[in-house]
Amino acid sequence: MRNLTNILITGGAGFIGSNLVRHIFEKTDFTGRIVNLDVLTYAGNPYSLSDIDKQYGGSRYFFEKADIRNRAAVDAILVKYKIDTVIHLAAESHVDRSITGPEEFITTNINGTFTLLEALRSFWTDFDGKLFHHVSTDEVYGSLGNEGFFTEDTPYDPRSPYSAAKSASDHLVRAYFHTYGLPITLSNCSNNYGPYQFPEKLIPVMIEKMLDEKPLPVYGDGKNIRDWLYVEDHNSAVWTIINDGETGRSYNIGGENEWENIKLVHSLCEIVAKERGKEADYYKKLITYVKDRPGHDRRYAIDCSRMKKELGWKQAFDFEGGLLLTVKWYLENRKWIDTVKSGEYLNWMEKNYDER
Ligand code: NAD
Ligand code: DAU
Repeated sequence: MRNLTNILITGGAGFIGSNLVRHIFEKTDFTGRIVNLDVLTYAGNPYSLSDIDKQYGGSRYFFEKADIRNRAAVDAILVKYKIDTVIHLAAESHVDRSITGPEEFITTNINGTFTLLEALRSFWTDFDGKLFHHVSTDEVYGSLGNEGFFTEDTPYDPRSPYSAAKSASDHLVRAYFHTYGLPITLSNCSNNYGPYQFPEKLIPVMIEKMLDEKPLPVYGDGKNIRDWLYVEDHNSAVWTIINDGETGRSYNIGGENEWENIKLVHSLCEIVAKERGKEADYYKKLITYVKDRPGHDRRYAIDCSRMKKELGWKQAFDFEGGLLLTVKWYLENRKWIDTVKSGEYLNWMEKNYDER
């Protein structure tokens, strides 16, 4: 068990990062400080953590609006908070956006990770008790056929600018371990879902379109397969790794929960219909097959037996329960959705952070 005191979480205003900050404060016995470094792109929303800020802001929780590509800003934050542990999530994360505009994916995901690694190599004069955990994706492994699973030994074969940039960052992180001895761990996770996910990814897109009674866009033949994991289970796995993971080692995290997109969309239609008192088939008529994503990976499936056997982690949420929690959250948290959709969160951020 590592002794963690001052944790820097990059990308803590995003979907997984904000859930991770909440998870650490509410579900673990951590007693130290968390610094959330986030530049607040369109996907970053400090409003997701307003409750945490109210409770712990200024004592155990600190928000720093900064860009991971800005070395001077990163250096200053490391010094100011005496950071001993970094959990690196900040990234451009949406595959479709990486196809229409890859540049930010290269500069943030590759150069940004490089900047952090360089800053830590110089700031940590002694690596004892330090850790850099890199949060990555199963997309680095490419696409599976009908059979098989990604293991930690599967060769990298990225197909989109997003996954290529994440692959490059993974290689850099391992290179810093082998070359400089920087203490790192790395995780590659499958598709997350849950509260606070920006409505551009499959599950929140479908829920929002249903509520707006708009067409539900299913790419290609709808038979692409993803392995879905509730975000809380991803975060419990990351917490397990940073406490007990072996330095220099990679861990696959997944739901062992493969779904064809079209079957998942059908399920979501049924859940939303039931929650809103409609006929089971009410929303299915909105399903519309649209042009496929270029280079669309066919199937992802994770073998997470290393996490289970070596670190004793397992998923706590089944898909039925997790999807119901997610749908209910989107139905009950319209203020968050409206804020995200309207850009009003920028005003909120100015009022709550810039005046501090
Ligand atoms: P997200 O897009 O919701 O959040 C990303 C966050 O990073 C945002 O708050 C954004 O403002 C911040 N950010 C972007 N560029 C930055 C920069 N230059 N400097 C500082 N902050 C910056 O993403 P997410 O879905 O929460 O994913 C988080 C991490 O987990 C990513 O590294 C992603 O590759 C990885 N991951 C995601 C999934 C998934 O299903 N969402 C699965 C596996 C791995
Ligand atoms: O596998 C992990 C990855 O999962 C993460 O690394 C990425 O950050 C995250 O965005 C996610 O990538 P995907 O491309 O798999 O997620 P997305 O939600 O965009 O799409 C899931 C599947 O649904 C995919 O096969 C494309 C399809 N899709 C997506 C959207 C947004 C549709 O059919 N219609 C849609 O409108």
